[in-house]
Amino acid sequence: MAPSTYRELILVAIFTSFLQLCSTYSFRNCIESANSNHTIFTCIKRQATTVHAIVDDLPPSATNVTISRCKLSHIPARNFSQLPQLRILALNNNSVTHIDKYAFVNLGHLQSLNLSSNSLTYLDPALFRGLLNLTKLFLADNKLTNLSLNQFSDLTSLEILDLRRNKLISFSTVVNAITNLPALKKLDLSFNKLTSLNASANLPQFLDILYLSNNNLITLTNNKQFLRTVKVLDLSYNFHLPTSAFHNLNMENITYLRLRSTNVSITKLLEHNYTRVPPWHIDFSGLGLKDPQILCKRLSHFPKRHIKNMTLTSNNISNLYNSTFAYCPLITNVLDISLNNLKNPGCLKFLTGQPHVKTLKVEHNHLNKLFRCNKGHSLTFPNLRELSFRYNRILSVSGNAFSHVPKLTTLQLNINIIAYLDTYALGGLKDLIMLRLDNNLLTDIYAESFEDLYSLKTLNLRNNQIAVIFNNTFHSLRNLTILDLGGNKITQFQSKAFHGLDRLANLYLDRNHLKEIDSQLLARFHNTLKVLDLHANQIYYFQERRQSPFVNLTKLVDLKLDAQRPDGINLLPHKFFQGLSSLKSLYLSNNHITYYSEDTFDGLTNLKFLTLDNSCVGVTKLTPGIFKDLRKLETLQVENMGIESFSKEVFGNLTALRVLHLNRNAIQTLDVDVLKNLTNLQYLDVRSSPLSCNCLNRDIQNWTKNNHRVQLVDLYSLTCWDQKGSNFYNFDTNVCYYKEELYLFASTCSITIILTLIPLLYVKLYWKCKYGYYIFRSWFGEQWRRLREQEEKCIYDAFVSYNSADENWVMEQLLPNLEGNGSSYRLCLHHRDFEPGRNIVDNIVAAVYNSRKTVCIISQNYLRSEWCSLEIQLASYRLFHEMQDVLLLVFLESIPERKLSTYHRMRKVMLKKTYLQWPGPDCTDPAKAQGLFWKQLKKALRSSSSTRQEEESMEADVQLGEEKDAPNTKDREYFVNQPHVDEEAYYLMP
Ligand SMILES: *[C@@H]1O[C@H](CO)[C@@H](O)[C@H](O)[C@H]1NC(C)=O
Ligand SMILES: *[C@@H]1O[C@H](CO)[C@@H](O)[C@H](O)[C@H]1NC(C)=O
Repeated sequence: MAPSTYRELILVAIFTSFLQLCSTYSFRNCIESANSNHTIFTCIKRQATTVHAIVDDLPPSATNVTISRCKLSHIPARNFSQLPQLRILALNNNSVTHIDKYAFVNLGHLQSLNLSSNSLTYLDPALFRGLLNLTKLFLADNKLTNLSLNQFSDLTSLEILDLRRNKLISFSTVVNAITNLPALKKLDLSFNKLTSLNASANLPQFLDILYLSNNNLITLTNNKQFLRTVKVLDLSYNFHLPTSAFHNLNMENITYLRLRSTNVSITKLLEHNYTRVPPWHIDFSGLGLKDPQILCKRLSHFPKRHIKNMTLTSNNISNLYNSTFAYCPLITNVLDISLNNLKNPGCLKFLTGQPHVKTLKVEHNHLNKLFRCNKGHSLTFPNLRELSFRYNRILSVSGNAFSHVPKLTTLQLNINIIAYLDTYALGGLKDLIMLRLDNNLLTDIYAESFEDLYSLKTLNLRNNQIAVIFNNTFHSLRNLTILDLGGNKITQFQSKAFHGLDRLANLYLDRNHLKEIDSQLLARFHNTLKVLDLHANQIYYFQERRQSPFVNLTKLVDLKLDAQRPDGINLLPHKFFQGLSSLKSLYLSNNHITYYSEDTFDGLTNLKFLTLDNSCVGVTKLTPGIFKDLRKLETLQVENMGIESFSKEVFGNLTALRVLHLNRNAIQTLDVDVLKNLTNLQYLDVRSSPLSCNCLNRDIQNWTKNNHRVQLVDLYSLTCWDQKGSNFYNFDTNVCYYKEELYLFASTCSITIILTLIPLLYVKLYWKCKYGYYIFRSWFGEQWRRLREQEEKCIYDAFVSYNSADENWVMEQLLPNLEGNGSSYRLCLHHRDFEPGRNIVDNIVAAVYNSRKTVCIISQNYLRSEWCSLEIQLASYRLFHEMQDVLLLVFLESIPERKLSTYHRMRKVMLKKTYLQWPGPDCTDPAKAQGLFWKQLKKALRSSSSTRQEEESMEADVQLGEEKDAPNTKDREYFVNQPHVDEEAYYLMP
């Protein structure tokens, strides 16, 4: 392996990993051709001013690079060295004035280098060093005045050197520069300033083609053998080149010599022994040979009796006589008398004595009529195969106009003004294969017109004035494969118009006035038709139709329905293309299609190319699923359709898609997911879209940076409509991340706040929660049920909840008064009756639920105790939630309101129920007050715990109370009613 190959491999490897790391598959100034697999790039009309800026992001796999119409003035050294695979490099039309010596170094594979149309005045002698594989070098249209001696010395493969349109003066220096090029075949020095062909060196051995037209040659060369090897020599438009320049010049190998518009006298040149130019290879165009007969007589002096091609164009010939060419050597191939002033071909009588002409060209003359040539005419040209009367003024063609050329295979009557084509004009042309009648003024064609043309394969009637195709017009044309009726005024086909066309493959009906597609008419082509062109007719649908007009065309490959006039096809009926199972290309552009139904493209399972460009009526909403059958679609052109969104529902099915033209639509955002779905997409063009630089496009921007499958064409030139001056590829997406940060900030903040609040709430609501927790636990727990069952039994009359600081009072006052002293209340005291070893909370719950009442002995200490709080809460729970009035408050000392205020629950109880106040020693009559206190307490303990029962029993109590324990009015001063408290006033109010 050569070292350079290693280097390339390394470069490719580096590039590949570079691609994978960070590259965007899009190029700053170039566009990769679709489907070119990283090889073909065009960089045209870019703003960049340096070569480096243009090519630096191209991959090393690039083989064809075109940089054109850019503002380059200088090509620096080694700017292409990272493109070692370059085969074809075009740098034309760039105003380059200067190219550095090593500009093309390392381009060992380069085959073609185009530097035309720049402003080069000088080429460094070493410029083309190392271009060992270069075969074509284009330097045309520059300002070169000189070439260096070894200018092209390394170009051992060079075959074509184009130096047209420069300012070269010295042919000798040119020859010095090329003399050693072993492969050079063609040298173009037209439009320079050469005055002679004198040179000190020889032309390269294999130089065949030398173009020297439009110079200032006044002589050729003194070296009579100098042009001996040249085969094709163009010396035209060297106005002062005299005949004498050819004196004794050896041009024995010449096959084509062009001398038009020189000062050469052809008669003199052809004088015997004057020159060794073989006259049968001279192009006699533009030599003022008004009467070719003189030429022919001159030629007859030469020993050779055959001439292959005779070209007599631009000689002002206005008349040809029967004998004109009779003296000429036999013309065996082409006779070209185009660009003269002939008015009448006269049944080709001028070809008398020239029976072997195969091709006759009489183009660009003044022919105006083609007359009848009698069948019995003695003069026929059975060898004439091709006849061209293009570009004349033929108005009419009479019957049997071609009977003297019965073996014609090609007849070109196009670009005339034929208005009248006799019904039998083409009679007898049984071998005709191609007939061109396009660009005339034909209005009618008849069944007989083509009757004899059994062999015809191509019939071109384009651009005439035909309005109706009658029945059987083409009935003989059973071999016709191409029928071109485009550009006529056809409104109607009679029902048998296409009768007989058994092999038709291509039918062009574009630019006619058809209003609908006749499925019956087309049905006969079901086995053959491959191309149907209905471009620019007047097909218009405004309502549904039952059957697809194409239902039988199972072989159709290419269908054009674009640009219906005047306002487009309007509607594509349901399943319009059903049956076109072979269709590969469908053109629907330039139609105002208002609606696409979901099944519009159903059945087009082999479609590879679809264009809907410019089919827009404002904003287009493509129906989801519209492309669902197009599983083989490779290229989709939906430019300028007013498409607003690039959605998965519409485009997601196109898994074979490689090329997508979405430019000039209303798309503002691109969905990365859709692009990921299109697994074969390589080329995406969204130029001229109002892309927005907002967060919705953040992902696509990211994606463009990392994907190396899809080329987003001209990504670096895409701008945003909503942020002037911003580029799509690098607009600031930080603001989007900022938003995310905002969310993060907000959530962090709330978490912090919650975390701060929890301890606070914990402190404030600790008991509430704890209590709630126990209630909740008990509610669902086994315990609860058991307790509730036990509650029914009510082991105790009262559970006494007190603080141990108040134990003395309980033991000395409460106990004796309620359990002793003839009273038989059973009290539950925690220090005495709690089940040992049991969870204290469970004990409390059990105590509360095993007792009919809970008596809370409230003091300052009590309020401070956790457990007491829980006890009172549990009891009040029964009050509020179970409607069981179990709570009885006994105040041992008077507690100021403000202290109570922290015990919300107790306050609620106090507001709902009243409470008993233990008459302390400081009251007026403690003994009496205490007696009354015990009475009230006992009574309260006796009362029912159910609030409902309580209400029922209340009246009874009142009556009872009146009989026995009713407080007298005096007692009443100890009892103050709470707002809604029952009249039965055994509750106290401080
Ligand atoms: C593209 O080129 C690479 C290497 O140059 C080749 O391996 C690959 O098969 C090519 N892909 C196509 C689709 O031609
Ligand atoms: C690209 O270069 C190859 C030769 O390497 C040539 O055959 C082909 O035609 C070129 N294609 C274009 C589009 O220039």
